[in-house]
Amino acid sequence: MAVSRGGFSSRMGFIMAAAGSAVGLGNIWGFPTQTASNGGAAFVLVYLVLAFCLAYPAFMAELLIGRYGQANAVTSLQKMSRTLWQKRFAFVVGFGGIICAALILSFYGIIAGWMMSYAIEPLFLLANMQISADWVITHSLARNLFFTSVFMALTIVIIRRGVENGIEKWSKRLMPLLIGLMVLLTSYVFTLDGASEGLEAYLNPDVSRLLDPNLLISALGQAFFSLSLGTSVMVIYGSYISKKENLVTLGAQVTLIDVSIAFLAGLLIIPAMYVAQAQGVAIFAEDGSLISGSSLVFTVLPTLFDSMGGVGLFVALAFFVLMSIAALTSSISMLEGPVSYAVERHNLKRETATTVIGLIILLFSVVIVFNLSFMLDFVAILATQYWQPIIAMLCCVFVGWIWHRSELLAEIKEGNDEVENSLFWKVWPWYTKFVCPAAIAIVFIHSL
Ligand code: TRP
Repeated sequence: MAVSRGGFSSRMGFIMAAAGSAVGLGNIWGFPTQTASNGGAAFVLVYLVLAFCLAYPAFMAELLIGRYGQANAVTSLQKMSRTLWQKRFAFVVGFGGIICAALILSFYGIIAGWMMSYAIEPLFLLANMQISADWVITHSLARNLFFTSVFMALTIVIIRRGVENGIEKWSKRLMPLLIGLMVLLTSYVFTLDGASEGLEAYLNPDVSRLLDPNLLISALGQAFFSLSLGTSVMVIYGSYISKKENLVTLGAQVTLIDVSIAFLAGLLIIPAMYVAQAQGVAIFAEDGSLISGSSLVFTVLPTLFDSMGGVGLFVALAFFVLMSIAALTSSISMLEGPVSYAVERHNLKRETATTVIGLIILLFSVVIVFNLSFMLDFVAILATQYWQPIIAMLCCVFVGWIWHRSELLAEIKEGNDEVENSLFWKVWPWYTKFVCPAAIAIVFIHSL
C-alpha cells in the first residue's frame, strides 16, 4: 500500500511539503491579524511560547502516529489500539480530524480566492483595464464565487495527480522566493515614516495582557492552525516519510521555518500598518482598537504598494501571487486528509475521490459565500479555535496513554540511533502524556 500511496522522495521533499502545508495564509494573513487584534507584542510572546512548548510536541505526536501506522489517520490510530473501545475512540479522533480539515478548507478557499483576485488586479491595471481591475478587488457575490471555485479547482487538479511531483518541486522553488520577497519588503517598510512606532507595538509587550483568556485561546488556536495540527494532515504527511529519516530533527526544522515566517510576516505587516497610518489610512477602529480581519492585508498593503509608484504594481503582483501559492501548498494538504482516507478505507480511485470530495467541500464554501458576514467567522472559529486543539489534544492522549510504550520508543528510534542521549528522549514521552493534554485543556477551559 505504501508504494501506491507514494511517499516523499527525499528529506528535503518532506521539509518543503510539510513547510508548504504549515506556511500559508495562517502565517502571513492570520498571524499579523491576530497580533493586531490581540494587542500586539503580548500576543507574539504567548504565541512563541505556545508554538514551541505545546504545538511542537503535539506536531511530533502526529508525525510519529503517521509514520508508525503508514496510513491515513483512522487506520494509523486503530493500529495502535488494542480493545474495541480504543478502536472506536481511534475512529472518532481520526475521522474528527478529517472532517476538521474539510471544514477548514471550506473557508480557506474563500480567503485564498481573495488573494488570487488581488494578484490579478495589477495585471488588469497594466493592461489598462480599469473596470475589470476594480471588479476583481470589490466584494461581490459573483467575484467571491468565481475565485473560490477557481482556487478549489486548482487544489483538486493537483491532488488528483498526486502530491509528490510538482508540489515538492514547486515548494522548493517558491518558498525561498516568498521569504526573499518578504525580507525585501520588510527592509523597505523600515525606511518609511511610522515604522518604528509599529515595531514598538510589535515587539514591546503589554505584560498585563499576557494571561487574558481571549489572547491565550487565540494564540493556541493560531499555533495549532499554523502547524496544521488536529486535522489528520500531519499524520498523513508523517506516513509518507521514510523510516530512515530522523523525525525529531525534521519536525523541529519544519516548526522553526513555520514560526520564523509568521514572525517575519508580523515584522512586515504591523509596521506597515503604522506606515499606512502616517499616510492617512485609518488603522484604528472607532473603539480605539486596531483594525483587523480581512481589512488588514487588503487595505494596508495595497496602500503601501501604491506609495512605491510604478514598481509597486509589480511588487503587489509578486506578493499576492506568492500568497496564492502559499495558500495552495496548504490547501492541497487539507484535501489530502479526506482523500487518502477515502482511497485507503473505501477503495475509491484517487481521481474520483478527489473530485467528489473537492466538489462537496466547494459546495459548502458556496453556502458560506452566500452567508459571508456571519458564517465565515463562525466556521473559522469553530474549526480552528475549538475543533483543532481538541483533536490535537486527543492525539497526545492517544500517544501517551494508549500507544504501547515500547512501540512508541521503537518508532522514535527509527532513523535516529543516537536519540537515547537526547533531551527529546528523556522529556518528550512523559511531557506528551501529562503536560500537553493538561495544558491544552487548561487553556481551553480558561477561555470558556
Ligand atoms: N498551516 C496552514 C496555514 O498556516 C493552514 C493549513 C494547511 C492547515 N493545512 C492545514 C490548517 C490543515 C489546518 C489543517 O495557513
